[in-house]
Amino acid sequence: MVAQARKVLRNGQLVTPKGVFLGDVVIEGDKIADVVPGGVDEAQLADAEVFDATGCWVYPGFIDAHTHMQCWTGMDWTADSFETGTRAAACGGTTTIVDYATQDKGMTLHRALDEWHKRADGTCTANYAFHMAIADWNDHTREEIADMREAGITSFKTYFAYDHLRLDDAQTMEVLEAIKPFDGILCVHCENGTLVNELQRRVLAEGITGPEGHPLSRPAECEAEAISRLMYLSELTGARVNVVHCSTRLGLEQVRAARERGVRVSLETCPQYLLLDDTRYLEQGEDGFAGAKYVMSPPLRKPTDIAALREAVADGEVDQISTDHCSFNLHGQKDRGRGDFTKIPNGGPGVEHRPALIMTTFEGQLGPMDYLHLLSEGQARVFGMYPRKGALAAGSDADICVWNPSARWTISAANQHQAVDYTTYEGFEAHGRAKLVFVNGTLAVRDGEPTGEKPGRYVAR
Ligand code: URP
Ligand code: ZN
Ligand code: ZN
Repeated sequence: MVAQARKVLRNGQLVTPKGVFLGDVVIEGDKIADVVPGGVDEAQLADAEVFDATGCWVYPGFIDAHTHMQCWTGMDWTADSFETGTRAAACGGTTTIVDYATQDKGMTLHRALDEWHKRADGTCTANYAFHMAIADWNDHTREEIADMREAGITSFKTYFAYDHLRLDDAQTMEVLEAIKPFDGILCVHCENGTLVNELQRRVLAEGITGPEGHPLSRPAECEAEAISRLMYLSELTGARVNVVHCSTRLGLEQVRAARERGVRVSLETCPQYLLLDDTRYLEQGEDGFAGAKYVMSPPLRKPTDIAALREAVADGEVDQISTDHCSFNLHGQKDRGRGDFTKIPNGGPGVEHRPALIMTTFEGQLGPMDYLHLLSEGQARVFGMYPRKGALAAGSDADICVWNPSARWTISAANQHQAVDYTTYEGFEAHGRAKLVFVNGTLAVRDGEPTGEKPGRYVAR
């Protein structure tokens, strides 16, 4: 490997664990060598590659701890591969994703992990770690948990919905018991799958077949009940849990109540649940099926839910905002569910736009330290990567996002790098943009465009 020149990021507002201050960041190879308040001596610039960060905030690279790249989801393959998905992530300032490696029924965890490495290794612009999603719980799977841990995986996932993936309550409890000895964490998709199946049947029987049937079949109660159940399973076993993609006020209340009882729960929500409401399912578009773009689970919710979640974000109750990036094209994939909303592949894109969306929508309400916690540090801490990731500090990996808060641009499918034919944020006027993005010390993005480098690596935890 060719040795990289020392790099100095000059004169930025550095967003560090100790607060925000003006200074320089020195990169040596793939590590941050120094963070210098006030800036380095001129002499230190000799032989260094210098990047101007004047007027910018300098963050540790953002971390998206909830993605599904290059994944068979039971209905179709996601549109983004690891190559396109991590390139898009980096263009938006995200330097690490934590993707859900997923075991199918009849498959071993080893096989799932091998598959995910095969798909990702050597193709990624941003770094990648894996959670392991468990769909087939048996004695062999239980034995494999220790191997997963050895392979750098300390977080797992189970589902309470989706028939091809979900575990029952006793199995979920056993998974929690299996990961508790090493303080592993279980991420859980919290929707009551039995109720969802029945409500889907009823909604279809009423003759509602379009995307507007999707939220009707997955009401807030389905989420809240499942979150509540998970809270008691965590209480029963003492194991750590992470509620992913919380979308409702009712669900949030279950987490709050559990926290008061001492349950060790961390909380994730996503930009779509902070920005978009369920009227989107009525969107027609050119071919009367644009509402399918928003078919994701849990579904988009009511303005009251959005308000409650936004308040929770502002009050520091939310540990992480990640995306649940799970992209399908509207044409050729989602539109196969025309005439039956239950056949629309679930999921939407977002990995590229999360930092810009959050910093714009919370402008005037939150500041750089909040964005640091919600978009990077929270994910690093909850998933065992801190301070290697999520910290702008000497010794941390040189994953860095130089963010220009003055940039003004419009989010559009026409200018995105996500390999999908739409964005749910079409026309959104974004305030701020990634100007320079470094991954392991290599410049991966300049002014929102990729440099073509693929410095992303597997992050063993
Ligand atoms: O609709 C979604 N969210 N699809 C991705 C899988 C999941 O539920 O997280
Ligand atoms: Zn989910
Ligand atoms: Zn997901």
